[in-house]
Amino acid sequence: MNPTVLSLSRRDFTKTALLAGAAVATVPFVAPAAANPRRIRTGVIGCGSVSNSYLPVLTRSPFVEVVSLCDLKPERARQQADRFKVGAVYPHVEALLAGVPFDLLVDLTDMQAHEQINRRALEAGKHVWSEKPIANTLAAGQELLRLAQSKGTRLWGAPITVQSPQFAFMARQLRAGALGRVAAAHAFYGHEGPSWSAFFYEKLGGSMPDLAVYNLTSLTGLLGPVQRLTALLSIVTPERTVDDKGKIQVAEEDNAMLLMDHGQGVLSHVQSGFNYFNPHGHDGKNEHRHTIQITGSHGYLGLVGYDWEPQGVELATHDQPKLVRHATDAQGYIWQQGAALAAECLATGKELLVTPEQALHVLEIITAARESAATGRRVELKSTFKWPLVA
Ligand SMILES: NC(=O)c1ccc[n+]([C@@H]2O[C@H](COP(=O)([O-])OP(=O)(O)OC[C@H]3O[C@@H](n4cnc5c(N)ncnc54)[C@H](O)[C@@H]3O)[C@@H](O)[C@H]2O)c1
Repeated sequence: MNPTVLSLSRRDFTKTALLAGAAVATVPFVAPAAANPRRIRTGVIGCGSVSNSYLPVLTRSPFVEVVSLCDLKPERARQQADRFKVGAVYPHVEALLAGVPFDLLVDLTDMQAHEQINRRALEAGKHVWSEKPIANTLAAGQELLRLAQSKGTRLWGAPITVQSPQFAFMARQLRAGALGRVAAAHAFYGHEGPSWSAFFYEKLGGSMPDLAVYNLTSLTGLLGPVQRLTALLSIVTPERTVDDKGKIQVAEEDNAMLLMDHGQGVLSHVQSGFNYFNPHGHDGKNEHRHTIQITGSHGYLGLVGYDWEPQGVELATHDQPKLVRHATDAQGYIWQQGAALAAECLATGKELLVTPEQALHVLEIITAARESAATGRRVELKSTFKWPLVA
């Protein structure tokens, strides 16, 4: 057995077990092109917790050939290579780039490391799928996007909440005016915080880039880009004990409240935190609360469960005031499939709703929230993205 994977705790066990089913769920989505697909040679960097969620999907995708794995802790890469039958293993990004040729880099490293690794991969002419965030600042992220464009390569970032059928249902209801004049939205995501790695609590970590990022992607996708925001941030638990570094001081917020103005009078509120009692921990399938709520003059939409693993959408309107549940079928969507979708896009030309422009707008929301909390002022945003996403 794989000691690294085992030491990564119950979350990995749960996610790995979930993925046994989840990977099967991707089959209907990819089946039409499976007869003779072009496989995108893929290198994966970062073989920690989330690689247990990505690698089963990548190695089952007909659009992907995982040719190499890399981790600063080489034993982790070796163990995943044994488990997923990958031929080449490297201890750092330069060796990976100089090694077995590949076209798509999947970056699953610490949040703070993404910017530098993504830059090196783009400079080397690779396409990049990055876990969130793509970079540490809007300016750096925009520079990466320009670099990708100059190289003729693609850059995408997690999360992929806008790809779910539940997102599409909500977007279509809003577009059709089912809620009347849209006024307000509220979204939340929290648990007691990761226990395995310190980077979640170090500078440029925090609950916003790890958790709020999902709600921010969903709400900007549903309500449009944010024009200005205010935020309050705090550290509730100043000291934590984590698997990789023992006792650490928490340097970034573990409790966040953001208030956002989407224009046209639409306001939203997102909260995230690493101090939220949550009986389901990191497992989304038993979460049935409305974690996204949108209210208008004629109706209400509530997303059942988390936006990364939604169970359905409940809608009530003037005409049908009792909540009715819709969009209960995942239609093959799983949160772990982002990099496989990117490979499919490269192989077939099929475009995703996920865009780097939206990911960078969400990154700017997070950095603006930090600025607002530090200065006590409202912050105007500079970036935007093409919206609406769903016709
Ligand atoms: N764990 C999850 O369930 C989960 C879910 C969704 C998203 N994510 C995101 O995935 C990313 C990774 O999270 P994780 O939980 O897997 O963390 P982790 O600490 O378990 O794994 C990260 C791995 O990256 C390696 N690494 C760090 N810097 C590196 C570098 N410069 N070169 C090569 N390897 C490097 C580390 O050695 C480690 O093995 C984060 O952005 C996180 O927000 C995690």
